[in-house]
Amino acid sequence: MTNTTNSRITVTAALPYANGPLHIGHIAGAYLPADIYVRYQRQQQRDIIFMGGSDEHGAAIMLRAKKEGISPQEIIDKYHELNKETFERFGISFDMYHRTSEPIHHQTSQDFFTRLYEKGEFTEQESEQYYDEEFQQFLADRYITGTCPVCGHPEAYGDQCENCGSSLSPTDLINPKSTLSGKTPILKPTKHWYLPLDKYQPWLEEWLLKGKKGIWKPNVYGQCSSWLKAGLQPRAMTRDLDWGVDVPLPNTEGKKLYVWLDAPIGYISATKQWAQDNGKDWELYWKQQPNEADNARLIHFIGKDNIVFHCIIFPAILHTHSEYILPENVPANEFLNLEGRKLSTSRNWAVWLHEYLDELPNKQDELRYALCSIMPETKDSEFTWKDYQAKNNNELVAIFGNFVNRTLVLTQKYFDGLVPTRHDLHPMDEEALQKLQEIPAKVASAVESFNFREALAYMIDLARTGNKYLADTEPWKVIKQDQARVETILNISLQITANLSIISAPFLPFTSQKLQAMLNFQSTDWRDAGRDDLLPARHTLEKPALLFQKIEDDWVDQQVAKLHQDDTTTEEEPTTNLAPMKEEITYEDFVKLDMRVATILTAEKAKKSKKLLKLTLDTGLDQRTVLSGIAQHYEPEDIVGKQVCVLVNLAPRKMMGIESQGMILMAEDADGALVFMQPENSVSNGSGIS
Ligand code: MF3
Ligand code: ZN
Repeated sequence: MTNTTNSRITVTAALPYANGPLHIGHIAGAYLPADIYVRYQRQQQRDIIFMGGSDEHGAAIMLRAKKEGISPQEIIDKYHELNKETFERFGISFDMYHRTSEPIHHQTSQDFFTRLYEKGEFTEQESEQYYDEEFQQFLADRYITGTCPVCGHPEAYGDQCENCGSSLSPTDLINPKSTLSGKTPILKPTKHWYLPLDKYQPWLEEWLLKGKKGIWKPNVYGQCSSWLKAGLQPRAMTRDLDWGVDVPLPNTEGKKLYVWLDAPIGYISATKQWAQDNGKDWELYWKQQPNEADNARLIHFIGKDNIVFHCIIFPAILHTHSEYILPENVPANEFLNLEGRKLSTSRNWAVWLHEYLDELPNKQDELRYALCSIMPETKDSEFTWKDYQAKNNNELVAIFGNFVNRTLVLTQKYFDGLVPTRHDLHPMDEEALQKLQEIPAKVASAVESFNFREALAYMIDLARTGNKYLADTEPWKVIKQDQARVETILNISLQITANLSIISAPFLPFTSQKLQAMLNFQSTDWRDAGRDDLLPARHTLEKPALLFQKIEDDWVDQQVAKLHQDDTTTEEEPTTNLAPMKEEITYEDFVKLDMRVATILTAEKAKKSKKLLKLTLDTGLDQRTVLSGIAQHYEPEDIVGKQVCVLVNLAPRKMMGIESQGMILMAEDADGALVFMQPENSVSNGSGIS
């Protein structure tokens, strides 16, 4: 088990390509969760570093340079500066925001290559690879696109399909096309150095499949296990390119290191630079220590398209190098959609963070809150301006802001801004103090287990508790008869407010600071949270100001209109979130499915499950039990008597200790809403469907 109290923590967030600006999908995917985690751990006084930077190599940079008609160097300089500054303005608190174009990074990644080379790990192989005759260039990775052989997505890259996440080789693509000329490439022989991932498969099965089961998030573990099940292939660690880190071997002109070899090593180079600048020892954060208990805990925050690189390839490299620690966790998020569609850089369907900050330079926390509340932790989720408005108006303004403002204004009014004394407690006071004591630990444990949405909900629950406490105790009425009672009420409300300034800090760092300034109070120590004596009696408060402002409908409409205005999608392009068509099947495959009409006889909630209803069906053939994941969509009493369609020959499966004998057919839209597939008119149970 890892020691979560004292040990060092190394946190990384994916290095974004310096080929374009950042949008809210990047933020919700990796940077916001990482920042919340890091800010929280700093409050716990843990020795933690947060490393990031620009990924400045690879085809992504070259293609952008070509598109903008400027050099790759100009591209990376432009976007490195823009992104670094944007992160700062948004409060993403990297200890170091480095760049992979720095000499220290080239050196570090070449050292890694050399080490593996000298250990004889690479296999040297000549093979036929796609080549663009017009541009006289080999086409790897993003230089080539085609149809994904796994999911049929028409724009898969040579290294990966961004739709289904499959890791690919250019030769896997159906109908390959050069991104440079748009033409069909030819095959030409070339020599490269391969990392034998197949050889590391047994080790990965032990370390990852066995070691991370039930520990890593199911979406991450599941992706890894399906790659391992499919069997790993050797992967070239060099490329025919003229932009990137030179291969540190003789006679390798025109070859560079594979960007996915050098980029994650960028986390290490960043740490070296940070250590140099701050008089620290970088090895403590990356290398195995003589005593295993002293090893740093390595956590990578990434989006789901980076899983294979951080969970399989980079760990294999670190392991093979043999002196390094391995990731303890890789809490990758799924994707964020925007107003019903996939975010798309190329179609300009995105909320760009720097544009948001230009328009609303002091509303970082409003966006942080909205994004955290819908973070795609376990599945894709959706950002809409309407929801942003609702979170702002109904939670930040109406709960957090309202509670804080009432507390501070009443204290000014009744006690001249001095913290009043607490007297005898009523049950309502004790209840509020009880919550105050419990909530910080709940927030903490949710953050430690990477459940940021849940953590945020607990945080706002403390403000809700305060709000309700004021509504129930009504100090504005009581003041007429009983001043001492109001002293107690406002003292408690102020302690809750001081606590809010501490536990909101990871999520809403700007607000937390403003609030502490108004309270004339300072604490960056999480261990203060839960205390009910943070503000002593007679402590002087500053004048309050509103923390949040209401957002009007007009403004929301303008934002949505702006999105549509900037959208460059052409009419032929599909814009839905629909899953792509599955692999083709034969008629014989189809007729194996035995689907029938059945009537729901009984329905009840399955014990211990939020999602499942336990149904008894009359299938015409028999009466049987089927579990269906519709508890969040239907009330049991509303569906008894309905006719539905059922797959009756599905092998029985046990869930929550109950055997399910079949599956009810449902339609699910892109937002996750579920409806039954039903016969248009009533038919007899058991009627076949074909
Ligand atoms: N640049 C990559 C992307 O945007 C992420 C690189 S993460 C690193 O998908 F680990 F390689 F740095
Ligand atoms: Zn695919």
